[in-house]
Amino acid sequence: MSYNLLKGKKGIIFGALDENSIAWKTAERVHEEGGQFVLTNAPIAMRMGQINQLAEKTGSQIIPADATNLEELENLVEKSMEILGDKLDFVLHSIGMSINVRKGRHYTNQKYDWTAKGWDVSALSFHKVMQTLYQKDAMNEWGSIVALTYMAAQRVFPDYNDMADNKAYLESIARSFGYFFGKDKKVRVNTISQSPTPTTAGQGVKGFDGFMAYAEKMSPLGNATALDCANYTIAMFSDLTKRVTLQNLYNDGGFSNMGVSNEVMEEFRKE
Ligand SMILES: NC(=O)c1ccc[n+]([C@@H]2O[C@H](COP(=O)([O-])OP(=O)(O)OC[C@H]3O[C@@H](n4cnc5c(N)ncnc54)[C@H](O)[C@@H]3O)[C@@H](O)[C@H]2O)c1
Repeated sequence: MSYNLLKGKKGIIFGALDENSIAWKTAERVHEEGGQFVLTNAPIAMRMGQINQLAEKTGSQIIPADATNLEELENLVEKSMEILGDKLDFVLHSIGMSINVRKGRHYTNQKYDWTAKGWDVSALSFHKVMQTLYQKDAMNEWGSIVALTYMAAQRVFPDYNDMADNKAYLESIARSFGYFFGKDKKVRVNTISQSPTPTTAGQGVKGFDGFMAYAEKMSPLGNATALDCANYTIAMFSDLTKRVTLQNLYNDGGFSNMGVSNEVMEEFRKE
């Protein structure tokens, strides 16, 4: 269903790797709602070539950029404004990576070079993206910037490893930068805290299947899908949410406010 919510709006979407990616679904929905955008991902992630299909389907151009590299981000923002012929109305940061998680390193035995790299990619990159947009005055007034996060920033999920700390940092950046973006440019900045979702990044977390099944049983509305996340993001990019800023917004079927559900209790009953 399309409501033309983003007619005339222009932006940049980071992080569409394959059709499971939350950013991929978001790009499809933004397109359906009349928005135009540039797609970007790390050059190394583009070798798979799948992003070309998405670009074709949505009539978008692709500009590679490593989100930790300021020069590449500057090029991305400048070229995007040239291609789209205007300043930007929305930006989606949908980026995450932990080498400690990928290599199965325990939280109590991290390799700190990997910790630093994961932090740079997953958290500091959000500051780098916003600083580039801010300094280039690339956002239109009442624009909207969204990054994706997970509840391990607030509560303990042991296998989420150093990504929990990265997400806490990311959410803090949204508030801190969101203040300046709001005051100086009338731009809103929020994070969406999404249910576990079967994507490349999600499935990289140890015990992901158990994790997903547990969250499904705990959440009164069940887990939010990638499409649900795309739809929420569309709402946050639209003019219907103009004064929502500095927030961490849960899109998780109610999981974050649950103590226990009857379904989960059922698993532990003795009789
Ligand atoms: N899948 C989940 O369970 C889940 C839950 C909550 C939040 N999230 C968050 O959603 C976001 C998107 O992840 P996803 O689940 O769609 O997985 P995904 O693997 O499809 O997307 C992650 C993206 O990050 C990109 N990336 C990695 N390093 C980069 C770099 N240096 N520069 C630019 N891009 C880089 C990857 O190429 C990939 O496209 C992430 O922030 C993730 O933490 C995911």
